[in-house]
Amino acid sequence: MKTCIVSAPFDPVTHEEIRRLLNAAKVNGFRKIYLYASEEGILPRRERIRMLKLAIRPWRRLELYEGSDCPENMIPLNSRSEVTVRQGRYDLAAPGIKKILIEEGPYLSETLNHLCSPHRAAHSRSVAMVCRQLAEAHGMDADQAWRAGMMHDMTKGFSDEANGKIMKVYTPEMMEYSPKVWHSYTAPVYLYHYLGLRDHKILEAIRHHTLADGTGDLDRILYIADKIEPSRGYDASKEMELSRQDLKKGAELVLAESKQYMREKEGLNV
Ligand SMILES: [Fe+2]
Ligand SMILES: [Fe+2]
Repeated sequence: MKTCIVSAPFDPVTHEEIRRLLNAAKVNGFRKIYLYASEEGILPRRERIRMLKLAIRPWRRLELYEGSDCPENMIPLNSRSEVTVRQGRYDLAAPGIKKILIEEGPYLSETLNHLCSPHRAAHSRSVAMVCRQLAEAHGMDADQAWRAGMMHDMTKGFSDEANGKIMKVYTPEMMEYSPKVWHSYTAPVYLYHYLGLRDHKILEAIRHHTLADGTGDLDRILYIADKIEPSRGYDASKEMELSRQDLKKGAELVLAESKQYMREKEGLNV
């Protein structure tokens, strides 16, 4: 029986790639298809191989090429679907690795770059950093807080029309609010369905991050971090210090300052 070696970045390996490989094995009568993760990729090769091993575990015809050399006569695999996954369709990744993509967030930066403007992506990274610092100060899950920061504005770049369509289906009662806050409600829907996020603490924190109407610790951390992250360009050391000691008081201070700012600068009665 024949074998062959197929090469791709597997950055990450997708459901479509696995399906195509299995189909090729069946149609061409391959006993084994060996998979070679090419050198170049966004993630380090060892990370891509870790995920590839998990993804092919159920399939006896697919096996990792373990040689350290770069084998000749490799067949290149069309890897376009990997880009789609990295850009925010984690639901299209190979089933065995979806959990890693959402729980470890190795492509969150790539996803942000695709869904958001450079300015918003930088803001989100900065929010994530402050979220991590505050979570560490309170003995909470710092990685979870970092992910909440990275994901909180993911649908803010969507048009009002696109966000409105999601709102009409999932949270029509919140459409009375300004379109500026709609992304708080559409991001959890997007994250749940396309990224497969099932972390309800993160989903809730994102839902509450514009109106500051959450009462959980992560809700408060995200609200505070969103308002005081360094790229906003003002000295927030007082707010940060208070938040390190007491999240409730920190969130109350930041909210009061935000309301005052809007009254003074924009003439809004909030
Ligand atoms: Fe936001
Ligand atoms: Fe934000």
